[in-house]
Amino acid sequence: MKKFLLLFLFVASQIVSKADEGMWLPLLITQNYDAMQRMGLKLTPEQIYSINNSSMKDAIVHFGGGCTAEIISANGLLLTNHHCGYDAIASLSKVSQNYLANGFMATSTEQELPAPGLSVKFLSRMEDVTDRVNKYLGDAYGKNVETKFEEIAKEITKAANENGTYESDVKSFYGGNKYYLFVYQRFTDIRLVSAPPENLGKFGGDTDNWMWPRHTCDFSMFRVYCNNENKPAAYSKNNRPYIPKHHLPVSLKGVKDNDYAMIMGYPGRTTRYLTSYGVDLAINVSNPAIVKIRDKRLSIMREEMEKDPEVDLMYASSYASIANYWKYFIGQTEQLKNLNILAQKEKEESEFSRWGANTKNYGKLMGDYQKAYAAYTPYAKHQTYYREAIMASSVTRLAAMFESMEKALDAEVSADSINTLCKRLKNGQAITLKNMNVNLDKKVFAALNLLFYQDVPKAQHPDVFGKVVFAKFGSDDWQETFDAYADYVYNKTALLDTSRFAELCNADNIEELLDDPAVVHALSVVKNYKTYYEPKINEFNYEMFELNRAYQGALLEKNGNKQMYPDANSTMRLTYGKVNSYSPKDAVFFNYYTMADGLLQKYKAGDKEFDLQPKVVDLLKNKDYGAYADRDLGGLVTCFITTNDITGGNSGSPVINGNGELIGCAFDGNWEAMSGDVAFDKRYKRTICADIRYILWVVDKVLDGRKLIDEMTVRY
Ligand code: ARG
Repeated sequence: MKKFLLLFLFVASQIVSKADEGMWLPLLITQNYDAMQRMGLKLTPEQIYSINNSSMKDAIVHFGGGCTAEIISANGLLLTNHHCGYDAIASLSKVSQNYLANGFMATSTEQELPAPGLSVKFLSRMEDVTDRVNKYLGDAYGKNVETKFEEIAKEITKAANENGTYESDVKSFYGGNKYYLFVYQRFTDIRLVSAPPENLGKFGGDTDNWMWPRHTCDFSMFRVYCNNENKPAAYSKNNRPYIPKHHLPVSLKGVKDNDYAMIMGYPGRTTRYLTSYGVDLAINVSNPAIVKIRDKRLSIMREEMEKDPEVDLMYASSYASIANYWKYFIGQTEQLKNLNILAQKEKEESEFSRWGANTKNYGKLMGDYQKAYAAYTPYAKHQTYYREAIMASSVTRLAAMFESMEKALDAEVSADSINTLCKRLKNGQAITLKNMNVNLDKKVFAALNLLFYQDVPKAQHPDVFGKVVFAKFGSDDWQETFDAYADYVYNKTALLDTSRFAELCNADNIEELLDDPAVVHALSVVKNYKTYYEPKINEFNYEMFELNRAYQGALLEKNGNKQMYPDANSTMRLTYGKVNSYSPKDAVFFNYYTMADGLLQKYKAGDKEFDLQPKVVDLLKNKDYGAYADRDLGGLVTCFITTNDITGGNSGSPVINGNGELIGCAFDGNWEAMSGDVAFDKRYKRTICADIRYILWVVDKVLDGRKLIDEMTVRY
């Protein structure tokens, strides 16, 4: 009997400890519900996901396309990360009125700042449409799968949209083994309510990014506005705050090690079923290329940004996102190696192949993967350098728009059509000029074209290198050559001059623009890529689709009815686990929380990453934590970590306790598990969260926004 009980406990603990891995579809919550309950969940499945009644999912939104936010008041108040609101905050700032640097707090709804271009999507429902999609796809291959998928998705979503009431899409899961329809409501009148000063919202900068222990107060707040019927509407002065179906109550009770924690949000992309061949390519080719290119690009940006506060503000957001994934790829490579992910995958694959040898289709799957990667590898660098280096220049991206102009001229379209295209180009020009610094862009252009020249195999080069760059500016000093070439392009091009461009971009003068040096450059690199390399990359992707569908389909079969979660794909997911400390390496222990004293320990006056405002320093020195202090610890908890399984896109997600209350806002992952998007490591993988009490402390004490807190449902 005792033995039996022990066995039962062992099996149960296996299930429980497996809980942290997995980004589950909320629709399928009942599958995980028992485990969640055992770990401390007090809610019913219906309270988390329901299409008939209001539930937790109604408080979670896809924010700005790449992040998550949650509703935290009955008046449509949204909480997300600072790094998610960053671009909007920077765009609303001027050097003379710098909300990014100083923070922002609207003291009344009138003061809330419309953030043009920002929108949020609420999930209304989701539905399994696998049978319909598969029936329509039949045995299509390659490009045909794409085309047919678009056709059937259009048909399915058209009905679901109900004449514009909703916006929906069909997404593929398990590499194309399942398809789900998602129906959303999109709100486009979103206003900035509150942001911490950058040195709190991004405290620790790139040095602390992707690292624990952390003290960053990575939050910002927005509000959803709607029309009088509580429906989405374009911005209008007369719009009013949205009344949500559900908002998350806020708990000031704090967290303890091993407390239940769950996260709902919109993870963007994982490749947990990537094969060893893919890992090998990432470690040895793609990741080092991205890091090398971004290293160069960032150092040029930094140099120009430091010279001029206008340039600094203009590029702040793009710098932050480039730097974020620069460090991500350094960490991913390091941990793929440290944690022996290649060997781990190889082991899984040989086990799979042994199993597959007995079934008719799977025996040669891994061999097919190997062949596909071998065929693609010679062009992998080209693709990375095209995207990361060639297209890093704003002028090149603008000039690349001439591809369609050239096609139109070849097709001898009417003067009207040319003029229509010109209108689009002038629009593109206006946007480009508004968001660029010519000197910075020129330096990036020179340096990254040189990198392409040096690193991409010669046989794959566009003809502009020989015909223009070296023909006109060739020397033994390649740096000099590319600098001179960049001077020539940027001095001569009409693309940087609105009136000259307006004069030339019309049916009468358009031929002259095709000889513009920026256009010549862009068309050479774009056409070279699209004619010779894109087809190979597409072929690889089509082949990958087939193989992944077979592989993940086989894994579903192999696992029998055991649960298997699909890769992230920017659809709503739920992950459950617990608050938990960890040991990053021998003899080192990382506590599960950090405290405000740590802010002062890291503080460096005048430093770009570790500075704090005098007011904040005073508050910290006086230990003025108000109601936000932790009773047991006698201080302010700043951040904590959980075992939840998240990735980019989850940024801003609510961290929720067993009672459905908000305890934190998820904002990062930790260094020791940076390979997590490819393979989840149970020992190390943690989610880094800003404690909700830290956020409220900043709102109340630093930004004097007590009124905002009164709007929330706070549980003491
Ligand atoms: N690593 C975080 C994420 O991808 C973003 C952190 C932003 N902060 C920064 N210093 N760049 O979710």
